Amino acid sequence: MKNILLINSSLNGEQGNSTILAKELLSTLEAKSKVNIIERDLAKQALPHLSQQEMLAWMTPINERNEEQIQLASTSDILVEELQASDMIIIGMPMYNFGIPSSFKVWIDRIARAGITFKYTEQGPVGLLEGKKAIIVAARGGMYVGTPKDTQSQYLKDILAFIGISDVEFIYAEGLSMPTKVASLQQASVDIAALANKLLAV
Ligand SMILES: Cc1cc2nc3c(=O)[nH]c(=O)nc-3n(C[C@H](O)[C@H](O)[C@H](O)COP(=O)(O)O)c2cc1C
Repeated sequence: MKNILLINSSLNGEQGNSTILAKELLSTLEAKSKVNIIERDLAKQALPHLSQQEMLAWMTPINERNEEQIQLASTSDILVEELQASDMIIIGMPMYNFGIPSSFKVWIDRIARAGITFKYTEQGPVGLLEGKKAIIVAARGGMYVGTPKDTQSQYLKDILAFIGISDVEFIYAEGLSMPTKVASLQQASVDIAALANKLLAV
């Protein structure tokens, strides 16, 4: 039994290309193996920007937190627990204005926790999450893979490696605002089927 955390952040909800493709991968895996799924839609249930009070609540030792701090820290605690409990994270990743959705960034801001998901040593930062795999299903109007304009791929690899997830694979559906849309979605489905087969073979 694998625990899979599915994270979506498309403004278009279930109709978002990234959501549809991420769910296609998930249902292909689900059809052929036993999986336990935790789903988080960051567009539907938007998290607020991280505040100083929330950050201070994390930094206050648990037994010294007041009621407000317990409440404030609980959002991040829950998100971190979801991540810790997962073997695989499937991330539906729309490109908005040359970057990751801001709703996804506030999730990142809450799961990157010093002493919990990473720590600093004399040799530099060390990720504290172990044995997890992440799959990014990226949907974009234009075409950027392999160019400096693909600001998402390297950032996602870096931040996931920072917390200890260095096993990261990408599925790209690009050119979705161009006449290439149908062919791109078809190719993404082919790539998803191939990746699912590979994952199921492990
Ligand atoms: C607010 C907004 C900004 C966008 N910015 C970009 C962009 O910078 N580059 C790009 O290639 N596509 C951009 N697009 C197109 C989306 O990447 C494309 O529609 C993709 O399918 C989004 O994923 P989704 O369908 O899962 O929401 C943008 C779309 C929206 C709604």
